Amino acid sequence: MKKKIFLLPGDGIGKEISIQAKKILSWIDSKTKFEFELSEDYVGGAAIDKYGTPLSDKTLKELRKSDAIILGAVGGPKWEELSFDLRPERGLLKIRKELDLFANFRPAIVFNSLVNSSTLKKEVIEGLDILIIRELTSGIYFGEPRGIEIVNNEITKGFNTLVYYSNEIMRIADVAFQTANSRKKKLCSVDKANVLESTELWRNIVSDLSKKYPEVELTHMYVDNASMQLVRNPKQFDVIVTTNMFGDILSDCASMLTGSLGMLPSASIGIKNGKKSAMYEPVHGSAPDISGKNIANPLAMILSISMMMDYSFSEKKISKVIFNAVNSILEKGYRTVDILDEKSKKVSTDEMGDLVIGELNNG
Ligand code: IPM
Ligand code: MG
Repeated sequence: MKKKIFLLPGDGIGKEISIQAKKILSWIDSKTKFEFELSEDYVGGAAIDKYGTPLSDKTLKELRKSDAIILGAVGGPKWEELSFDLRPERGLLKIRKELDLFANFRPAIVFNSLVNSSTLKKEVIEGLDILIIRELTSGIYFGEPRGIEIVNNEITKGFNTLVYYSNEIMRIADVAFQTANSRKKKLCSVDKANVLESTELWRNIVSDLSKKYPEVELTHMYVDNASMQLVRNPKQFDVIVTTNMFGDILSDCASMLTGSLGMLPSASIGIKNGKKSAMYEPVHGSAPDISGKNIANPLAMILSISMMMDYSFSEKKISKVIFNAVNSILEKGYRTVDILDEKSKKVSTDEMGDLVIGELNNG
């Protein structure tokens, strides 16, 4: 049966990189045996303009029926004045929550040809291949109570709640141990257990679960130290597992190890009654400052499709071919502005997409 893939370009550069994504999908359609049907709709600011809400019920219903979702990016200055519940970001968060995409995989891989694009020294990042697993549907992003309130008719209070239930920690920790087991068998759990009870519980549960995975070496680290260690010596890590907000922050930090936020793909997975739901998106945002200029880096998006072929469809060969095509283009010295150096050839978003296709056709 044909797989259902749903594309949500969203806002800003999300639209430009989605055009490149479609080129890759067309290539898969015409040159491989993998069969799928592609649908597309609005999300975020684009959906606010079209439907008056960042994620319409109709779109959500369609997403539930899909095998995999690809999302560009959401947000932009045009919608910043809207009330909190109507902002573009709520659309993205609602998909994550409604489809229960609790496990977010954010790999940070340094391509050999990009070792000089990072602001860090070559020896610190050369050969880096780490994976941050971020809990995505709980924690402070979703905890209740939350809001902005006037207290005693005088002062205003803004508040959020950092809450984790044991089952939420168990399931993300389990995914993390299994993933670590399939890699270098090293897992670092990041928390703030010295200050926050919710993450003291996190630490205890992760420690308990480690008994089920004796072959995985488990360490714990406080998030402040982890952010420092990621910059000082990132290669000490292999798999990191952490809470929703810490994962948000640490993954942006890890992205710069690779040279550019424009290089980082991600996968968000939910598993219910044996059925997998999944969404793939670049880690970067909608970048309103460069949107519409045809200069954004589409590689994080293209690498997200590579992840999709592997994680959702077990098409490891197609996944690898796409990854290798990206690698060769970089080896040949083609760069969008975010990763440009004196020795490389500057290309636009569109040209980068075409170059990857050219490489796929040759490969
Ligand atoms: C991310 C983004 C989102 C987040 C925003 C756009 C809501 O920063 O995916 O990392 O905070 O999770
Ligand atoms: Mg983020």
